[in-house]
Amino acid sequence: MLVLGIETSCDETSSSVVHFKEEGSFPIILSNIINSQSKLHSRYGGVVPDLASRAHVEVIQPVILESLDEAKISLDDIDLVAVTRGPGLAVSLLVGISIAKAIAWSKGLPLIGVNHLEGHIYSLFLNTKSDMDESLIDQKALFPSFPHLSLIVSGGHSDFYRVEEDGKILHLGGTLDDSIGEVFDKISVAMGIGYPGGPVIDMLYREFIRNNENSSIVFPRPYLKDKFYDLSFSGLKTAVLSHLQALGLYDFASRIPPWERKVEISGQTSREIAASFQEAAVDVLVTKSKMILERENLNSITVCGGVAANSLLREKFHNMESELGTSVFFPTLQLCMDNAAMIACAGGYKFMREKQENFMEFSNMDVDPRWQI
Ligand code: KG4
Ligand code: ZN
Repeated sequence: MLVLGIETSCDETSSSVVHFKEEGSFPIILSNIINSQSKLHSRYGGVVPDLASRAHVEVIQPVILESLDEAKISLDDIDLVAVTRGPGLAVSLLVGISIAKAIAWSKGLPLIGVNHLEGHIYSLFLNTKSDMDESLIDQKALFPSFPHLSLIVSGGHSDFYRVEEDGKILHLGGTLDDSIGEVFDKISVAMGIGYPGGPVIDMLYREFIRNNENSSIVFPRPYLKDKFYDLSFSGLKTAVLSHLQALGLYDFASRIPPWERKVEISGQTSREIAASFQEAAVDVLVTKSKMILERENLNSITVCGGVAANSLLREKFHNMESELGTSVFFPTLQLCMDNAAMIACAGGYKFMREKQENFMEFSNMDVDPRWQI
């Protein structure tokens, strides 16, 4: 079965072809084209919905055609169309869902609406073409077994899920305020070092380590012991902004944009703040995950979403393998960010599990910007 996946929930326009070969083997990515709008939104320090929507309209068609070309197939070879239906920005989601409906209708194909978060969880079940020599690979060892804990850390979410073999996903808890990706982005904008914040802060952290620098700053680690499955990052964000304010580099009252500030933040200060913040954020995520694994009696965790690209997060989670014998799985860096291969993957599995008739009435399908699992 060849699945065409389409993803436009936020600021990435993506199309992918994924091949489900036979039962028991993991789907293979034949193409996964991602057109990121982050440059377009960087000057605003966040995603501007109208601009995002217009940019999706401009590139969606060439992105889909490129994904078919790279997979060396045409629309006539596709068996199923899978598209993100939510959560996300309504005006962005609409672009993907409209073109997905048009393709499905014109080719008489079934169409399936996929939850974006489920997509991130399924990003762990994808094979890349280089993995195709299956005779050499113990496939099962490369993929998480069931049940397992899944942590989604992205620009919109910081949530824990229990994932069962039959496709059931149970939401255990998550952030009560800001998502961790949002905090990376806000701090980075306040420091005037760019948007999106995650990659820049991570880069400053690595420079800090490489230079053998030390930090005297200890930011708070909110473990919320009374709200066992939940997270909270707004206190950590406020602590970083207060630290910047005390140095005269931020002003809560006027929120002066960094480029209008009289004082320039020095390289050493930005490295120290970035590293101390990143260490606190990662500590909270790792500690909470350990607590939840124990309480849920699970021995396997997947970490997905944009923030899963973070180098310290990957390092600290992988340490859990030797310390606790926990199996830890991360998607490849490309599959951490929003992409259509994960949507095709989640859609393909859902299609095989549920009855086909459910997916034929696509004229009724609508976006669901607040769709939670
Ligand atoms: O999953 P994603 O591409 O989009 C959403 O669904 O939100 O995640 C985007 C988020 C942004 O907040 C970005 O700053 C963050 O992922 N991010 C990172 C890193 N790379 C991207 N955060 C920390 N470290 C990184 N290396
Ligand atoms: Zn996402």
